[in-house]
Amino acid sequence: MSMMDKKGSAEIRVNNRTLVYPLYAGTEGEQAIDIDKLRKETGLITYDPGFANTGSCASGITFIDGEKGILRYRGYDVIDLAQNCEFIEVAYLLIHGELPNRQQKAAYSHLLNQHSLIHEDMIEFFRHYPEHSHPMAVLSAMAVSLSSFYPEMSGNYKEEIEMTVTRMLSKLRTIAAFSYKKSIGEPTIYPRHDLSYCENFLNMMFDSPLCEESYNPTMINALNKLLIIHADHEQNCSASVVRGVGSAGANLYASISAGICALWGPLHGGANQHVIEMLEQIQAEGGDVDKVIERAKNKRSPFRLMGFGHRVYKSYDPRAKIAKTLCNEVIASTNKHDPLLDIAMELEGKALADPYFQERGLYPNVDFYTGLTYREMGIPTDMFTVMFAIGRLPGWIAQWMEMKKDPHGRIARPRQIYTGSTARKVIRISRRK
Ligand code: CMC
Repeated sequence: MSMMDKKGSAEIRVNNRTLVYPLYAGTEGEQAIDIDKLRKETGLITYDPGFANTGSCASGITFIDGEKGILRYRGYDVIDLAQNCEFIEVAYLLIHGELPNRQQKAAYSHLLNQHSLIHEDMIEFFRHYPEHSHPMAVLSAMAVSLSSFYPEMSGNYKEEIEMTVTRMLSKLRTIAAFSYKKSIGEPTIYPRHDLSYCENFLNMMFDSPLCEESYNPTMINALNKLLIIHADHEQNCSASVVRGVGSAGANLYASISAGICALWGPLHGGANQHVIEMLEQIQAEGGDVDKVIERAKNKRSPFRLMGFGHRVYKSYDPRAKIAKTLCNEVIASTNKHDPLLDIAMELEGKALADPYFQERGLYPNVDFYTGLTYREMGIPTDMFTVMFAIGRLPGWIAQWMEMKKDPHGRIARPRQIYTGSTARKVIRISRRK
C-alpha cells in the first residue's frame, strides 16, 4: 500500500467481534477499508456484484470524480489535454507518466512510424475472414497474433516491455485500417513516414490508388480529440480485464486482445455502434423519441437507452461534453445536415428532463455523440468500437505496466458464494433414469 496514505482505521462488527482494519486514502481524498485479513480472521468474504464498491488496486494514472464530472490523466484535466495536446502526447503521458517535451514528442512520433508496418504474412490473415466479420473480432485476433510474429524479446525486461508497447501502439492502428480496407475489398494503403499518427490512420483508411485523400485540419483535430477522450478511464471493464489477464503472467499482446473483447460489449465500448443503430431505428420508425424513452424506462423490457448512464458518472460525462462540441464542429465543417443529430439532441433533452433519468443520475456518456462524429468523418458504424480501442490502447498499456510494477500485485482471483448442489454421489450411467 505504499502509494496510499494510512488514514486511521475502521471498525467492523462481525458476530459480536469488533475488528479493526486500516483505512487508506488516495491523493484526492477517497478512502478505502483494507479488508486483506477479513477472511483469515473471520472466515467471511465480501459480496459485491459488479465490484461496484471494490478497489482492485491503487493507481496513479487516472482520476475520476463521478459526482462532479471530472476526469484527469496523471493530474491533467481531460478538457485541458484535448485542447492543448495531440493524441500521441497523451499516450506518452499515460505510459511514461509525464508529457513529452518537443524533442521527446518528435522522437516518439518517429518511433511509432518506424514500427507501423505489420509482417506481410499477417496481411494474408485478413483475406480468410468472412466478408461480414465484425472488425472487433478481427482486431482482437490480430492483436494476439502479433505475439507470434513479434515474440517478446528476452533479456532486459524494461527494453522488452518498451519495444512491445511501441509495437502495439503503432501496429494496432495499421491493423484497424487494413481490416477496413479488406472489408470493402480495396487494396491496403501502407503507413507513411511523413504523416502524424492521426493523419496516417486517416490516410490508411481513406486513401486509394484512384484518388489521393487529403484531410482538412478539422478532421485531424477531431480524431486527435476523440482518441484523447477515450485514452483511459481507470478500472473500467476492459482495463480490469487487461490487468486480470496480465496478472496471470500473460503477455501484453494477449492481455490487450482480451481487453478488446471486453470493450466490444454493448454495455461498454460497443455502445457507440448501438447508439447510431438506435438513432437510425428511431428515424426509420418516424422519429418518435418519446416511445424510445418509455421503452428504456419499462422495467419489463431489457432495452436501455444506449449512450446513457455510467457506473461512475452521476453527472454529465466530461467526455460527452467534448464529443458533443466536436460533433457540431465536424458537421458544420462538412456543410451537411445530419438528421440523426437532431434526433440525438431531442432524445438527450427529453431524457434529461425526465424524472426516471434524473432520479438515477443518468446522463449522456462518451458514446452518445462520438458515433455521430465518426459517421461524419466517413468511418463506418461497425468500426466505431475499433476507434474506441485505438484511443483506449495507451490506457490499457499504462494499466498493464502499473499492474506489473505493483509490489502488492497478486493474480486476480475473486471468490464466490457457492449456491449449487451440496455433495452427492455419482450414479452409474446404467442405473440413471
Ligand atoms: N437506460 C435506462 N435505464 C438505465 C440506463 C439506461 N441507459 N442505465 C442505467 N439505467 C437504470 C438501471 O436500470 C437502474 O435502474 P433501477 O435502479 O431502477 O434498477 C439504474 O439506472 C442504475 O443502473 P445500473 O444498471 O445499476 O448501473 P450500472 O453502473 O450497473 O451500469 C451502464 C452502467 C453503463 C452499463 C448502464 O448505465 C447502461 O447499460 N448504459 C447503456 C449502455 C452504455 O451506454 N454503455 C456505455 C458506457 S460509457 C463508455 C464505456 O465505459 O465503455
